Amino acid sequence: MQHVLSVEQFSPTYLDEVFADAVELRQRELAGIEERRWLQEQLAGRQACSLFYEPSTRTRLSFEAAAEKMGMGVVSTENALTFSSAAKGETIEDTIRVLDGYHFDVIVLRHHEEGTAAKAATVSEHTPIINAGDGKGEHPTQALLDMFTIRDAHQRLDNLNVVIGGDLRNGRTARSLAKLLAEYRGNKLTFVSLPEFAIGEDIKQYLASKHVNFSQTDAVEDAFRNADVVYWTRLQRERLQDGESDTVKGFVLDPGVVSLLPETSIIMHPLPRVDEIAPEVDADPRARYFQQASNGLYVRMALLKRVIGASEAS
Ligand code: NCD
Repeated sequence: MQHVLSVEQFSPTYLDEVFADAVELRQRELAGIEERRWLQEQLAGRQACSLFYEPSTRTRLSFEAAAEKMGMGVVSTENALTFSSAAKGETIEDTIRVLDGYHFDVIVLRHHEEGTAAKAATVSEHTPIINAGDGKGEHPTQALLDMFTIRDAHQRLDNLNVVIGGDLRNGRTARSLAKLLAEYRGNKLTFVSLPEFAIGEDIKQYLASKHVNFSQTDAVEDAFRNADVVYWTRLQRERLQDGESDTVKGFVLDPGVVSLLPETSIIMHPLPRVDEIAPEVDADPRARYFQQASNGLYVRMALLKRVIGASEAS
């Protein structure tokens, strides 16, 4: 059985395999009804449980769509904090023990506390758990689709200048992406944030242990001049401490700042975008965030196939 808990589990070979599948699945999905029927057979008879304790649009709906497009059934609770027995005080361990007894083929779990997916995995005896975001921890499947998007644009995942900006203290997608980029040679990471929203020490230590060239700055303009990828994130307002200012001033991408970027660079964002990318940037050919979101569907289809295939083989 193969849980998906952290990007630390992924190797470049694993990404190559998932991405090759994702490319094929994308082709078939776009090819019309015959191919869609083929897709329906891929995971027919299997069932996914999607258990979300935090709001989600893309992650939940793309996972559920991915599952259904491949013929799976889906049982879903989109607001588990209110509508599951968590509201009555049930622990996540007990909830998972119960769901494990319903023999799903996979549980896709999003939770507001870091480490919850790993905790769930320790009590799930038969069902693989996929971490769909755990608090300020990680978002491994987002990092997969982010890497897929980068590879689509640059045909490589190494020797890239990647600028990662926004609320890096609270944003799990930036953390997972930085760790995954560390698996490839020659990537240079520049973290752009206000000092109080800087990326965690744990990530810096992780990057240092992998000998990754990284720096931190609040000078957006300098960082942009030779960026291959700009990965922007929103202020995680729901994770701010009491009394903290919720301004993103100086960190809004508008056509002026974006004009500093090389022609070949791409602008990414895990979405939701709130006010940190001006809508006028959407028309820029370098803006890839909606394509990025769409890629999530195919990458998650490929991932479901692998995770379910691995648990059936074991
Ligand atoms: C991200 C998340 O939930 O961490 N959203 C997503 O899954 N695309 C980013 C965010 O909420 O800011």
